[in-house]
Amino acid sequence: MPSSVEKRSGVKRFGIMTGGGDAPGLNAVIRAVVKSAASCKCEVIGLEDSFDGLIEPDRCRTLLPKDVRGILRIGGTILGTTNRGNPFSYPIDTSGGKRDYSDRVVEMFHHLKLDALVVIGGDGTLAIAYEFFKRGVPLVGVPKTIDNDIVETTNTFGFDTAVSFATDAIDRLHTTAEAHHRVMVVEVMGRYAGWIALYAGVAGGADVILIPEIAFDMEKVAAHILERERLGARFSIVVTAEGAKPIGGKVSLIKEAQGAFVERLGGVAVLVAADIEKRTGKETRSVVLGHLQRGGAPTSFDRILATRFGARAVELILERNFGTMVAFHPPDIVAVPLENVVGKTRNVPLDFDVVRTARAMGISLGD
Ligand code: F6P
Repeated sequence: MPSSVEKRSGVKRFGIMTGGGDAPGLNAVIRAVVKSAASCKCEVIGLEDSFDGLIEPDRCRTLLPKDVRGILRIGGTILGTTNRGNPFSYPIDTSGGKRDYSDRVVEMFHHLKLDALVVIGGDGTLAIAYEFFKRGVPLVGVPKTIDNDIVETTNTFGFDTAVSFATDAIDRLHTTAEAHHRVMVVEVMGRYAGWIALYAGVAGGADVILIPEIAFDMEKVAAHILERERLGARFSIVVTAEGAKPIGGKVSLIKEAQGAFVERLGGVAVLVAADIEKRTGKETRSVVLGHLQRGGAPTSFDRILATRFGARAVELILERNFGTMVAFHPPDIVAVPLENVVGKTRNVPLDFDVVRTARAMGISLGD
């Protein structure tokens, strides 16, 4: 029997989409939403490739519990995703220009007879969702990013999986670094925030951790490595976030922003490795973990978080608590206004306990 909230909400059918870069746990959220909705006799329409599913015809399908069977442990997203499909400024491939498709999104929302939307995405997708909420589309957001840099939630799913993968990589690099008496520099994701580098670095026992929040001084990094040498450690592990930069310098880019594409970060590990070799005389190698951090099965922590987010998102929809985002405020999953989230980045605070712990462990943060 439906509860009184279900009867009162008037929500019978809602859409779900995934936007931005993928993160392990997206499928777990989709599964949780579909299963929770089925328990409340609601119909879920899966929209393909983020807002493209509301721009282009026939880019949606009904999702039944049988359609989400077995996806809890699978990375990626069964709905597909894109990080270049902002409907307010949609790229036109043929002309290279841009077009505003936002009216079409609102029309398609009504045409599909949807009562609400669940939008799973990072800062960019949630900002777009908030614009549609202001234009009268009832929706609830679910935060996603391996970078863990969304404000108002202590964790996003995907982060724990990325940290576990990076920690395993650091463990593997330790043995080869030690065998060859080398310095290994490993680059992890994290455009604006150093959560992955900091957590994986501490978990993997790194000797130097470079994060976007602390501009680094190569002289200090090299001195730290030479000091380890003097104390008998003939190898070192340096973990750098892709967005780390030297004092007075810039982030390392593979490609400038172009059209709908944001700038592509990368290459800092190569630069840091070359500089370390020059300053210390020690043989140094670099490795970029890249998109391997976004792939694979979510950890149990991420599966639980994603499942709780999905179930709570359906509750919020039934309560008509729109314009909100589900968030983890341990031990609870709460609703926060989307308004408080958009346009902000959750950086690593410089006095954060894990930063202080890293320093207490003798890890150099390059400053
Ligand atoms: O936002 C998550 C993230 O993993 C960033 O750390 C990284 O810079 C970016 O995605 C890369 O995304 P893509 O290659 O899909 O454009």
